[in-house]
Amino acid sequence: PSVLLTTMSSSSSSSPVVEEAKRIAREFDYPAERVQVGVKEYIRQMNEGLAAEHTTLSQIPSFVTAVPNGTEKGLYLAVDLGGTNFRVCSVDLHGDSTFSLTQSKIMIPRELMASGTAKDLFVFLARQIEAFLRIHHNDHFEAHIRRRSLGQTEQELFDLGFTFSFPVRQMGINKGTLIRWTKGFNIPDAVGQDVCALLQSAIDELGLPVRVAALVNDTVGTLMARSYTSPGKTGTLIGAIFGTGTNGAYVERLDKITKLEQFPDAHYDRSTSEMVINAEWGSFDNQMNVLPTTLYDDALDADSNNPGIQMFEKRVSGMFLGEILRRALVAMHRDPAVGLLKAAGRSKVVVPQDSALYKQWGIDTSFLSLVEADNTPGLVEVKVALKDHLRVDDPSYEDSQAVKLLVHAIGKRAARLSAVPLAAILHHTGKLQTEDLVDIGVDGSLVEFYPNFEGYIREALRQVPEIGPEGEKKVRIGISKDGSGVGAALIALVAKQEDHHVQH
Ligand code: GLC
Repeated sequence: PSVLLTTMSSSSSSSPVVEEAKRIAREFDYPAERVQVGVKEYIRQMNEGLAAEHTTLSQIPSFVTAVPNGTEKGLYLAVDLGGTNFRVCSVDLHGDSTFSLTQSKIMIPRELMASGTAKDLFVFLARQIEAFLRIHHNDHFEAHIRRRSLGQTEQELFDLGFTFSFPVRQMGINKGTLIRWTKGFNIPDAVGQDVCALLQSAIDELGLPVRVAALVNDTVGTLMARSYTSPGKTGTLIGAIFGTGTNGAYVERLDKITKLEQFPDAHYDRSTSEMVINAEWGSFDNQMNVLPTTLYDDALDADSNNPGIQMFEKRVSGMFLGEILRRALVAMHRDPAVGLLKAAGRSKVVVPQDSALYKQWGIDTSFLSLVEADNTPGLVEVKVALKDHLRVDDPSYEDSQAVKLLVHAIGKRAARLSAVPLAAILHHTGKLQTEDLVDIGVDGSLVEFYPNFEGYIREALRQVPEIGPEGEKKVRIGISKDGSGVGAALIALVAKQEDHHVQH
């Protein structure tokens, strides 16, 4: 009888739209037990990746063997390719945990991202570096050109850190071949090529005074930048991105990276007994041993340009959350028994044909952040977001409720999933046992703008027995703004010092 009662009361109090939204939202539940199973499996795949190549979790050695302590100094160039923008910056490290940064951002033309050749892309990048130098460092640039025309070979080059946020098989601090594209990039002839060499030759063709000194994943950069700006007793342990894509880097003990034996030519400093590992956790559990899934996740993957790859990322990061949501909304919209955004009882059609609702990748993370943030009684912000992003006129209150329920469910699952690699790495490194505080640097639109993303991560961390409430309290999570630029500069500095050691 009690079951009957609850069904009766819920059906009398809410509409089919809201009921269906609640039902779908439940499919995104990711309870504590699943998180725990996820952590165990992550640790297993993590160890597998440290021992061998070509595993799902790539665990890429970065050849960065120390994290900064805030005293590093110097002027460096950095470029960042990996999201929607290409950024060029010069970073002045002041040596006291502070820095100044000058930057320019350029949207990457779509045709360069997903068609065209590697050469087209890298020439485009080198041109942006040239434009940046002309605007911000023209004296240096002109002096270089003068010296060259006089036939002087002695050159003062800018050292550049290249943040390239894709999986790269790294062979040294400024050498690495592209394993595969992610996040919507697709330029087949670049796969297998050394991306540093590609950039250097495009730079040389334009005669720029620049040496590509370091190849950096954005997560490694974030880790380094965080360690520079908020140095603690032991430095930062993890750098993580929760943005367009998701990934993390952490400090590992050299003796655990047994696959390093397969890199006989790589030279790196062994004195610290540590090395930063780029996990490439976007591809955690591509085999789907433990990851949760729904119809919407499956359809998103099947229609993507890399089915079966980046399966973790496709459930966690900004580029994909909007698309999961869109698919769920469309299903509810097309189901005549539900009729989401269908103007029930009203004559006008509320979704225009060219609405982003009908376009693959049409909804971006900012929409989710706006909807999640709305605490007004009438859900007025959701209404505004529906109007601005999907050009939906006059949605009903139930429509807004349904959208909010789905957004919340998808965002919360993403945050709870994000706790899995963090908990696994915290446990694996044993740092919670030996330190009073463990620092994690993060960056990306989700952690920065999605309401309470960190709060949900923390809640899940507490539910993992290996971490627990005590462990979770020791975890410090801080945004590492401009991390990839500053981090790339820091690694260019390390590379220069090492070069010095080798030569002298
Ligand atoms: C993707 C890339 C990875 C990067 C992450 C965040 O997962 O493969 O290299 O770190 O996005 O930008």
